[in-house]
Amino acid sequence: MTAPNTPDVIVIGAGAAGLFTAIAAGKRGRRVVVVDHAPEAGRKILISGGGRCNFTNVDAQPQRYLSSNPHFCISALRRYTPRDFLDLVERHGIAWHEKKLGQLFCDSSARDILTMLLAEAADARVELRLGCAVGEVERTGDGFVLETAQGQMCAPKLVVATGGLSIPKMGATDFAYRLAKRWGLSIVTPRPGLVPFTFTPQDLARTQGLSGVALDAVVSTSGAKAAAFREALLITHRGLSGPSILQVSSYWQPGQPITVDLTPDLDLAEHLKAAKRARPNAELKTILGDVLPRRFAERLCGDGGTGEVESRPLRDLADKALVDVAARLKRWSVVPAGTEGYRTAEVTVGGVDTNDLSSKTMEAKAVPGLYFVGEAVDVTGWLGGYNFQWAWSSGWVAGQAL
Ligand code: FDA
Repeated sequence: MTAPNTPDVIVIGAGAAGLFTAIAAGKRGRRVVVVDHAPEAGRKILISGGGRCNFTNVDAQPQRYLSSNPHFCISALRRYTPRDFLDLVERHGIAWHEKKLGQLFCDSSARDILTMLLAEAADARVELRLGCAVGEVERTGDGFVLETAQGQMCAPKLVVATGGLSIPKMGATDFAYRLAKRWGLSIVTPRPGLVPFTFTPQDLARTQGLSGVALDAVVSTSGAKAAAFREALLITHRGLSGPSILQVSSYWQPGQPITVDLTPDLDLAEHLKAAKRARPNAELKTILGDVLPRRFAERLCGDGGTGEVESRPLRDLADKALVDVAARLKRWSVVPAGTEGYRTAEVTVGGVDTNDLSSKTMEAKAVPGLYFVGEAVDVTGWLGGYNFQWAWSSGWVAGQAL
């Protein structure tokens, strides 16, 4: 019998991707040890989806992922699909529901997903070593040697599943990038993704007192990576958040403006002109308050002296002025000062360069036996269950190759 410190595979990182890789390899008869410095496995799973884990998205198309190589994710997503993961969830009797836009959540608790993964790992005889810091990692002729808090370990295959940089207080580290660089792999510069925007003091003055106001909007960025998302936008005391903002943040580059259509379903110019005919004595802010949150409309119309447009009775406003007002609100623009950073970012955009990995196996092309999976890799999903699906798919394909 082999000593426990010399398994077939060592996986570093007991998050979604590491656990799923270990399960897949374990089911194929590999002896797998998963090492993590955190005291508990899958901590991000537990806090995900507001505690209900948006564990996949039925529409996990490759186009919903950002990567320097947009084709890289295709193979893994085709081979292990949202339906495959849902079958597993159902085999474990976990109740789920589709919330919106193909997003699947647990009915009860994210812990159901973690419990399922741990049961699968136990079934696949995967050994978990938690609270176990990893020190030096060396390559030898026949594999990898790790110095860990629980002694030296070696294995012919090493899987790095240590995730990205988001939420450092939960144990996120740059371990994957450091290791990749050391063995000659490139890194696509990481940056926070799915993250709220912050405002300059001047722009904060424009939205002061509006914290908590939410509206349905189309938010877009232009430039090399143009993108537009229609979902809720939320004004915060630091700037902007809400799903549409988080989505766009993954595409945003510092210094770029974002543009917001505040009335996506409405031809606002026509609406204002019709209102002028029907209610000539009504103030502009009253009419705007019918189609936007009232507090927001009042602020837009000069309340507090920081407004965007002047409120007057509609009869005093020429049609051209109404068209101009509509144009400004259909293309409300702001240049964010920045983002809230890794402290609150749900993901890290960028990571281990996919050009250096096999899309079939996730193995480093130049370092046989070394694999990278999950968020550590330069594949980042939209908000809505896409990132967990990438963790499952990349972990599963790696598991078939180990
Ligand atoms: P993950 O970060 O999960 O795991 C990495 C593991 O490696 C951790 O256990 C860590 O402790 C360990 N580790 C790191 N450095 C180490 C080192 N040096 N030594 C040893 N161990 C180390 N996605 C989605 O699809 N649906 C959702 O509902 C949500 N919700 C959500 C909410 C919040 C608040 C956040 C922050 C993120 C999400 N996400 C999400 C994103 C999702 O959680 C994320 O993409 C996956 O957890 C990535 O899985 P990984 O296993 O790749 O990394």
